[in-house]
Amino acid sequence: MAWLRSAVLASLCTALAAVAMAQTAAPSLEYIRAGKLFDSRSGTYTENAVLVVEGQRIRSVEKSGFAIPAGAKIVDLSQSYVLPGLIDCHTHLTGRADQYDEIEIFKWTPFVAAINGVANAKRTLDAGFTTVRDVGSPPFAAVDLRNNIDSGFIPGPRIVASGPAISITGGHGDLNNFSPVIGRPMMYPAERDYEIADGVDQVQQTVRAQVKYGVDVIKILASGGVLSKGDQPGAPQYTLAELKVAADTAHQAGRKIAAHAHGNQSIKWAIEAGIDSIEHASLADDEAIRLAKEHGTFFVMDIYNDDYILQQAPKFGLPKEQIEKERGVGQKQRDTFRRAWKAGVKMAFGTDAGVYPHGDNANQFHYMVLYGMTPAQAIQAATIRAAELVGRSADIGELSGGHYADLIAVNEDPLQHVEALEHVAFVMKGGAIAKDERATVHP
Ligand code: ARG
Repeated sequence: MAWLRSAVLASLCTALAAVAMAQTAAPSLEYIRAGKLFDSRSGTYTENAVLVVEGQRIRSVEKSGFAIPAGAKIVDLSQSYVLPGLIDCHTHLTGRADQYDEIEIFKWTPFVAAINGVANAKRTLDAGFTTVRDVGSPPFAAVDLRNNIDSGFIPGPRIVASGPAISITGGHGDLNNFSPVIGRPMMYPAERDYEIADGVDQVQQTVRAQVKYGVDVIKILASGGVLSKGDQPGAPQYTLAELKVAADTAHQAGRKIAAHAHGNQSIKWAIEAGIDSIEHASLADDEAIRLAKEHGTFFVMDIYNDDYILQQAPKFGLPKEQIEKERGVGQKQRDTFRRAWKAGVKMAFGTDAGVYPHGDNANQFHYMVLYGMTPAQAIQAATIRAAELVGRSADIGELSGGHYADLIAVNEDPLQHVEALEHVAFVMKGGAIAKDERATVHP
């Protein structure tokens, strides 16, 4: 007993000493001079601000004229436009945009997805995207990527990870029109695929299984799609009852849920089911737009994709059937974007990176401005609105006290020329510099 008492006492003393030291040691602060600091709440700049960074987070934002203590570590972005790290709410980090031949898929081992993911995560971060929501990767590659990035083992953005997108048999996530001997879904040739689910019971079980294996978000394929065989983007796949059980099960587990839906009926059902965001939303009519507004459902519309699918993907073997389907939705989706934005639907930035090369995510800003947003609104969609959609407003999406020091700098004014975001010169994530092609760091 005496032995135990002295051991407990000894460890208590060590603990107290550690606390005392932590209290006396000066916090190590870093100061970032921001020539023009984008305030994602107002959509305007603050001139000559100073961000005080403590560890991974911003401690305070000081006004022009703030005196930085002598000898302090300074990151000088005084000649730059400084914005919150960008957020892409629709990526497939494990996918590549140069493998469209339908035979490709039969050559992959499960490891290929992981290798792609590691490379693509770095490209994404270097492009200024410090957070992504990954909405469809083989089980459970996005979860593993997230964990390895969070622990500092590999570079990459923060990841809000889903599992494979949940699909009906024969749906957008299934591998269709092959012989039954092939018998595998799109993502993974396993006995238990975590991907194909029919009927409310299977949908409920699949959502629960994905939660069990660590996903942050659920992705469900409500309608047909473009880059799949044997289905139509406009046609519903899941029923209202199936979508509802998916949404309820996800929410009960504290997860949000995103629904892929090009078709009008599926968009309406997904909104009615209580799904948090509609991905693509290509063929939404005015009634669907009104419903989205009424329910506060986000639209995440990948309106850059059409360029790449029609101009580049055919060179990499994209089959005719899919090119034709893209011709049927591409322009309509852009027109829908304009109507939905004008009507006041909440919009978050999401691109479907993986369909086009990772790292080109910012190419979409051009189209968002062309189809009705101001540059400030497009940037808000990729910062404060995206943070709201993924439920992380306290951590990301704005540069103010308490938020992560996730930020980018560009040389040209993106409020004048939003395409400036395609050339990000400086990236910081959680207070650590991930890329620096312009800043001077003292001392
Ligand atoms: N992943 C989507 C699908 O296959 C891509 C749609 C791309 N086309 C577009 N116009 N956004 O359905």
